[in-house]
Amino acid sequence: MPRKTPESATICVSSQIGNDPAFGAVTPPLYLSSTYKFAGLDQMGQYDYGRSGNPNRDALATVVAQMEGGAGAAVTSSGMAAIDLALNLVPRNGLVVAPHDCYGGTYRLLEARQKQGRFQVEFINQTSERAVERALDEKPALVLIETPSNPLMRVVDVAGLSKAAHHVGAIVVCDNTFLSPARQLPLALGADIVVHSSTKYINGHSDVVGGIVVAKDEAVLETLTWWANCTGVTGAPFDSFLTLRGLRTLHARMDVQEANAIKIAEFLHAHPQVSKVYYPGLASDPGYALAQRQQSGPGAMLSFELAGSREDVGKFLSDTHVFQLAESLGGTESLICHPASMTHRAMTPEARATAGIGETLIRLSVGLESSSDQLAELKVLFTPISKT
Ligand SMILES: Cc1ncc(COP(=O)(O)O)c(C=O)c1O
Repeated sequence: MPRKTPESATICVSSQIGNDPAFGAVTPPLYLSSTYKFAGLDQMGQYDYGRSGNPNRDALATVVAQMEGGAGAAVTSSGMAAIDLALNLVPRNGLVVAPHDCYGGTYRLLEARQKQGRFQVEFINQTSERAVERALDEKPALVLIETPSNPLMRVVDVAGLSKAAHHVGAIVVCDNTFLSPARQLPLALGADIVVHSSTKYINGHSDVVGGIVVAKDEAVLETLTWWANCTGVTGAPFDSFLTLRGLRTLHARMDVQEANAIKIAEFLHAHPQVSKVYYPGLASDPGYALAQRQQSGPGAMLSFELAGSREDVGKFLSDTHVFQLAESLGGTESLICHPASMTHRAMTPEARATAGIGETLIRLSVGLESSSDQLAELKVLFTPISKT
C-alpha cells in the first residue's frame, strides 16, 4: 500500500532522523570539523571544507526546505545574512520594492545597499493596491514581502502580489519569520524564495542567531548556494545543530503560543487603555479576512497602541517579569518591546512615521508561559497608568 505523504508536523519531527551511516544514531550527530579528508588525488568526498558544506547545515536546510515546499535551502549566519544573500539576485542598478514597514534592520540594509550604488530601493505600503501598481510599473527586479509585517502585523496578499510581480518579471522573496512554515507557506502561494530569521520561531529558544533562504527552483538555489560559499555567510555547524533541535517542537510551540496570543489580543482589544490592537486573529483587524485565506493561524506576535503618552509607555515597561523587555521574538519566553526605540531605531523618525510606527506602539512576542500568568502580568502593567 502506498505511504501517506507526511504532513509538515511529521517532516518537522522526523526528517533527517535515524539516517546516521556511522553508528545508527537516531538524532543527527554534530560535525564540527572545518575540513574533510580526500580519499586520494581528485577523490573528494561529499564534503571538503566547512564553509562550503557541512552535514548539520545540510540537515537543517533539508528539513526547512521540505517544510516550506522548496527545492532546497541555504543556511546563513543570521536573518540579515539570509536577506542579503537573496539580494545577490538583483542585478546592478535593478530596483527592489520593499514594504515601508519592514523590520528595521532590513530597512537599514536596503538603504545602505542603495547608498552604496548596488541597486535602487522603493519602500511602499504593500497593502495599498495603487502603491503596488505604481511600483510594479517601474519593473522591479525583486519584490520583498514581509507578512505579517514587523511590527504592525499588516497582512500582504502573497498570491496576488506574486502574480503581479511575476507579470513584470520580478523575483518574489517573502520573509516568513513571523509565522514560520507551521502557519504560512509563501512558495505555495506564489513566492519564489522564502527567507527566515531562524533566530525566531524556527530555532525557538532565543539561543542562536541564524538565517535560512529557501528557493522554489533548483537553478535559483544553485546561485544562492554559490554566493553563500563565495561570501562565507554560511551558518556554523553547532548553530545548525541547535536550530534543528529547536525546530523539532515548532508545531507544538506555535499551537500553544498562538492560543495564548489570541487570549491576550482579546484582553487588549477590550482594555480601555489600549487604543488599537494589531493582530490578524481579531475579526476587527483589517488583515483578518486575508489572513484566514493565506495563513493557517494568526501566529503569536501582536502589537498595540497604549492610549497615553511616551511617558506612560515608560511606566508600562518599567517592571515586567513574565514579559522580558527585549528585542527579538519567537522564543519560548514572552518578550515585550518598544519598536520605535528598540527594533526599529535604525529607521529615521520620518521613515517610522511613514510606516506608522509611533511612540506608543508596544510589540509582544507571546511565549509558552501559563496564559493566566501572562494576563495577570499585563493587568499589573496597566495599573501605574490607570492611576494617572
Ligand atoms: C522579520 C524579520 N526579518 C529578519 C530579521 C533579521 O534577523 P536576524 O536578527 O536573525 O539577523 C528580523 C529580526 O528581528 C525580523 O524580525
